[in-house]
Amino acid sequence: MRTTVPFADLHAQYLSIKEPIDAAIAEVIRTSAFIRGPFVQRFEEEFASAVGAKHCVSCANGTDSLYIAMHALGVRPGDEVITTAHSWISTSETITQAGGNVVFCDTDASTYTIDPAQIEAHITPRTVGIIPVHLYGQSADMPAIMAIAKKHKLWVIEDCAQAHLARIDDRLVGSFGAAASYSFYPGKNLGAMGDAGAVTTNDAALADRMAMFARHGGITKGDHQIEGINSRLDGLQAAVLSVKLPHLVGWTKRRQEIAAEYNHLLGDVPGLTTPQLGDDREHAFHLYVIRHEQRDPLAKHLAAQSIQSVVNYPMALPLLPAYARLGHRAEDFPDAHHNQSRILSLPIFPEMSSQQLKAVAEAVRSFR
Ligand SMILES: Cc1ncc(COP(=O)(O)O)c(C=O)c1O
Repeated sequence: MRTTVPFADLHAQYLSIKEPIDAAIAEVIRTSAFIRGPFVQRFEEEFASAVGAKHCVSCANGTDSLYIAMHALGVRPGDEVITTAHSWISTSETITQAGGNVVFCDTDASTYTIDPAQIEAHITPRTVGIIPVHLYGQSADMPAIMAIAKKHKLWVIEDCAQAHLARIDDRLVGSFGAAASYSFYPGKNLGAMGDAGAVTTNDAALADRMAMFARHGGITKGDHQIEGINSRLDGLQAAVLSVKLPHLVGWTKRRQEIAAEYNHLLGDVPGLTTPQLGDDREHAFHLYVIRHEQRDPLAKHLAAQSIQSVVNYPMALPLLPAYARLGHRAEDFPDAHHNQSRILSLPIFPEMSSQQLKAVAEAVRSFR
């Protein structure tokens, strides 16, 4: 019988921790602690501790966490923020939301993350910050990025949406910049059962400004110091995340094992490049992304064998219609443009069986 392989299997994860999840949800309902309250506070403390940060400000989703951080860092109209040419659009659209101008920088050919060697060419007197993305679960080159930021007095927000617990130089991602943003979208390495996000920092004053902005401009109800927004993690999501958090180390290890097995089984396939690790990085493998010269026919071949694959992401950010106003051409971002038609994400999730893994590898290997 043919093995069907979904891209991810959220239900399998739920079944593996069904009892504590059901109990946690029932407890939130029993105590009606839906907004703010003990479940949210507990998760904020636990998550800060898990990622080695002093403060965690939870919010409604990962997109908001970027926007909240930029607003609290004081982005003003005309300010320029440099970010990678290859990511999910949240990374760049929030720069515009915060009032800034997006400046795209091309990616590094092997890791798909922002290329530090090209950042300085984009710095102008209006530049205020850099947002590297730890794409697919691999850290951007943070030592090099922080050196540039220090030299030019720029802030750095790390977009850790795909990279919970990834490391570089044995340091956790999120521990380098002024703030780190996280998404707990259900399919993320640490996923809620709905939308959820957080921003972490070691700067108490920044944490206060972020919390204030996310909560209608006031830390205490009714005391609005500024106009803010309503971006809250709810009690149900917080309770679910608290049950899942202790499993994150084990789930990440399992993702790394699956990736190693894929590397072993696919390393010699002609025309295929397995994920390349930069120096001293520990990849969290949110996604296992291969590059293939015949990407679209390969994806079709996999689909015909009941194997789901996804393209993350089919178009480099600067080339999207959303950024037509910037007048970019493909030649401006040769690496991101080269990759957009070659990258393919294969199924990877902690509950994936070795039979499923082998089915994917065999299907890829049988492609002609
Ligand atoms: C790199 C990156 N940044 C930001 C986000 C935004 O997260 P959310 O979907 O929780 O708003 C995502 C999620 O897809 C992401 O992958």
